[in-house]
Amino acid sequence: MTSVPTIALNDGRSIPQLGFGVFQIDADETAKATRLALETGYRHIDTAQMYGNEKQVGEGIKDSGIARDDIWVTTKLNNGFHRPDDAKRSFDESLSKLGLDHVDLFLIHWPLPTQYDGDFVTTWNTLIEFQKEGRAKSIGVSNFQPAHLDKLAAETSVVPSVNQIEVHPYFTNTEAIAYGTEHGIATEAWSPIAQGKVLDDDVIGQIAERVGKSTAQVTLRWHIQHGNIIFPKSVTEQRVKDNFDIFDFELSGDDIAALDGLDKGEDGRTGPNPDTFDYIPE
Ligand SMILES: NC(=O)c1ccc[n+]([C@@H]2O[C@H](COP(=O)([O-])OP(=O)(O)OC[C@H]3O[C@@H](n4cnc5c(N)ncnc54)[C@H](OP(=O)(O)O)[C@@H]3O)[C@@H](O)[C@H]2O)c1
Repeated sequence: MTSVPTIALNDGRSIPQLGFGVFQIDADETAKATRLALETGYRHIDTAQMYGNEKQVGEGIKDSGIARDDIWVTTKLNNGFHRPDDAKRSFDESLSKLGLDHVDLFLIHWPLPTQYDGDFVTTWNTLIEFQKEGRAKSIGVSNFQPAHLDKLAAETSVVPSVNQIEVHPYFTNTEAIAYGTEHGIATEAWSPIAQGKVLDDDVIGQIAERVGKSTAQVTLRWHIQHGNIIFPKSVTEQRVKDNFDIFDFELSGDDIAALDGLDKGEDGRTGPNPDTFDYIPE
């Protein structure tokens, strides 16, 4: 079976560089999709309290029969639960829904700098407690801008192991990635194929034709060669398999540069800007 590279984190642990994302997978389809991904060879699942499918991820893991310790499981704190008591209660619920006694990685999903009086530091300190308890083996953040990470560095002593941010050829998010590289924070790239928006690109299409792979595979390979951790989502069996089949070819430096050159800056975002995003679910 294909062996997926791992990325070393700043807490001494290693995360599989390719995983499977379950955002926007209906709860009733999630157990099947998770199991299919695990049977394909994925050993890393990325879910979130907000996705409403942690329970079904847990079912898929159990159904697969694969040993718990062989699977990396990430979930994320929902936006309404940043206060310590809410974070603790919701984290207990996540473990209970997943049917696990620990997760491999727990993230603050969004910094919400205009909510909670801009205080995500208290929330981060709560995640540090989860890590000390051994219930979150690694802890990190998502959608944090360099200024948010500077604030954590100034006010706490634990550096996030990862920052999960939007990255794909149309939004290369180079400043946030460079900050992570400089400070030992691994980059997890969400929406790695921009939810499909990069797949009809002519530049990627020409490279795909030359190397005999699909545009999705070329784009995922670009992430891998950049050192990003990725977890493409699909509920389509052939795509789940194709997205895993990206370790038998290599892009040249010119190919990488060509994809880098597709960046549209802020216009390339598919999701919200973390500096202004303030959504708290009902
Ligand atoms: N932290 C955050 O704020 C945040 C935000 C967004 C996403 N994420 C994480 O990142 C993961 C991935 O991002 P995403 O789900 O937004 O988008 P994505 O993985 O970039 O794209 C998923 C879309 O592309 C299609 N697709 C997948 N593989 C394909 C292929 N080989 N060929 C053609 N189409 C393909 C899927 O369709 P089908 O499913 O119909 O096949 C789906 O519509 C999420 O599942 C989640 O875990 C995190």
